[in-house]
Amino acid sequence: MSVLVTGGAGYIGSHTCVELLNEGYEVVVVDNLSNSSKISLDRVEKLTNKKLKFYEVDLLNKEGLRDVFKKEKIDSVIHFAALKAVGESVKEPLKYYHNNIAGTLVLCEVMKEFNVKNIVFSSSATVYGDPKIIPITEECEKGEITNPYGQTKAMMEQILIDINKADKDFSVVLLRYFNPVGAHESGEIGEDPKGIPNNLMPYISQVAVGKLKSLSVFGNDYNTKDGTGVRDYIHVVDLSIGHIKALKKLERERGVFIYNLGTGVGYSVLDMIKAFERASNTKINYEFKERRGGDIACCYADPSKAQRELNFKAIRDLNKMCEDTWRWQTKNPNGYEK
Ligand code: NAD
Ligand code: UFG
Repeated sequence: MSVLVTGGAGYIGSHTCVELLNEGYEVVVVDNLSNSSKISLDRVEKLTNKKLKFYEVDLLNKEGLRDVFKKEKIDSVIHFAALKAVGESVKEPLKYYHNNIAGTLVLCEVMKEFNVKNIVFSSSATVYGDPKIIPITEECEKGEITNPYGQTKAMMEQILIDINKADKDFSVVLLRYFNPVGAHESGEIGEDPKGIPNNLMPYISQVAVGKLKSLSVFGNDYNTKDGTGVRDYIHVVDLSIGHIKALKKLERERGVFIYNLGTGVGYSVLDMIKAFERASNTKINYEFKERRGGDIACCYADPSKAQRELNFKAIRDLNKMCEDTWRWQTKNPNGYEK
């Protein structure tokens, strides 16, 4: 079975490539390297002792993508390729709508042309907005989304659902990720944000390694146990394994399937700081700041549907998430650059 992984050189994509190769899938990566490095894929090959095919192609380049489908026999697609910085999407909405939506449309058109009918899609808990029910089940209605990035996720979900309505054989798994963190336990691949990180875990690890001075904790007056925001952090290797389980679902059944990928446990920002200090044996400097626009107090998954239907359960705990992040950070203080 051959799987096309769009955005496969990125953070979650590269970890998923490792799991795919270890499971015996043939892997074809399409990535324009706009937010990643080819070195991640070299390391994937080294870690698995297996080869994958890489095409440096932008999804918006339909002819380039058609060439890939002509050369490779693709059975299924895992679609990671997207821009994902929430703040940037507010400043540059057109860039986000164009890349994420048009990229997905081109991909689906080419899939249709080549009769490829399985897709696993990277969605996000962001589609729930400020959730009405906690823990969040898949039945929870989509909420008001406060940024263009999140809007693109909700729209892409709808596009895939509508394609299935018109062609029942076109089958889709929408995976709504909670907060992916951590790295492969080898420390060879991990998250390599460009510039100053937007997300909590890479920010904490850059403070720990001395690249950044101090963490700003956005808000200490939320209605949570210690006043800081609560999220459901999931180890990226667990998350990647969730994609294999989703592919296997499509090998058994046709339809549209929606799953939360989280652990079901919420940790506050202060919990994360303490856990990272323990795992890295460092001191994290932090100061409380104003709430960040668009943030919600609390967000964690009810992960039971994925457990029931996919036999998926996240097993790597918070300590492992921090230890593996720290190993990646210390082995690669400048990411893939050096
Ligand atoms: P990432 O930026 O590391 O990976 C995305 C990859 O897609 C990059 O390698 C980038 O170069 C590539 N890409 C972007 N636009 C492209 C295009 N037009 N053509 C070809 N390649 C393109 O991000 P990630 O954290 O690995 O996220 C993967 C997916 O998961 C994204 O769709 C993201 O929105 C989604 N997601 C991520 C998180 C998170 O916190 N990391 C949470 C929820 C959902
Ligand atoms: N936080 C800080 N300081 C920072 C960064 C974050 O205090 O420097 C706090 C936030 O306020 C929040 C928590 O840490 O309470 C987590 O923030 P992240 O930016 O790491 O993650 P978010 O929950 O805001 O967003 C993430 C992804 C989105 C995705 C969303 C829901 O970045 O792409 O989860 O899945 F949509």
